Amino acid sequence: MHSSGVTLWFTGLSGAGKTTLSQAVAEVLRRNGYRIEVLDGDIVRKNLSKGLGFSKSDRDENIRRIGFVAHLLSRNGVIVLVSAISPYQTIRDEVRDRIGNFVEIYVNAPLDVCEARDVKGLYKRARAGEIQGFTGIDDPYEVPVNPEIECRTDRETVTESVAKILVKLTEFGYLA
Ligand code: PPS
Ligand code: ADP
Ligand code: MG
Repeated sequence: MHSSGVTLWFTGLSGAGKTTLSQAVAEVLRRNGYRIEVLDGDIVRKNLSKGLGFSKSDRDENIRRIGFVAHLLSRNGVIVLVSAISPYQTIRDEVRDRIGNFVEIYVNAPLDVCEARDVKGLYKRARAGEIQGFTGIDDPYEVPVNPEIECRTDRETVTESVAKILVKLTEFGYLA
C-alpha cells in the first residue's frame, strides 16, 4: 500500500512499553501491506551505535544516528518505528525538524510501574548500584512537551494503545 513515509518516534522510560507497542503497531501495518522498519534502541546499540554508552553526549549521538537512518527510510515512503528512550527534548526536537513527517508518541507509565515490571531486571541492578546513570533512577528523563500521541500504558491494554495510535495516524493522513 502507498504511504507518504513517516517516522513514529516512541519515547519513554525503560519498561514503559516502547518495544511492545512499536512491534505491535509494526505488525498491524505490515499485515496491511505498508513498508515498515523498526529501529529499537536495544538493537541499534548492538550495531549502528555499538560502543556508545549512556552519557548525555552518547545518548544524543545515538539518537542522531537513529534519526539519520529514519530520515533516509521515511523519505523513501517507509513507515519507520523508532523505540528509544530518547530522554532529551532538545535532541528529539532536532531530529523532528530534520525528518519532517514525525509523530512523537509518549509511552507513559509512572516510574514505579516500570520498576515493578522490571522486564529485564535492570531497575534492580540500578538500585543495587550495579548500573550507573540509569534513566529515571539517577539520570534524567524529560517528559515530552507536546507529543502528538500519549499512551498511558499503566491504564491501557496493549490492544487499546495500538488502536489509539492507528486511529491518530489515520486522522493525521498517514494511513489510507
Ligand atoms: S537512549 O537514551 O535513547 O540512547 O537509550 P536507548 O538507545 O533506547 O537504549 C535503552 C536500552 O538500553 C538498556 N540500558 C539502559 N537504559 C537506560 N539507562 C541506562 N543506563 C541503561 N543501560 C542499559 C535498556 O535495555 C534500554 O532499553 P529499554 O527498551 O528502554 O528497556
Ligand atoms: P520498553 O521497550 O519501553 O523498555 P517493553 O515493551 O520492553 O518496554 O516492556 C513493557 C512491558 O509492559 C511489557 O511487559 C508489556 O507487556 C507491558 N505492558 C502492559 N500494558 C502495556 C501497554 N498498554 N503498552 C505497552 N506495554 C504494556
Ligand atoms: Mg525496549
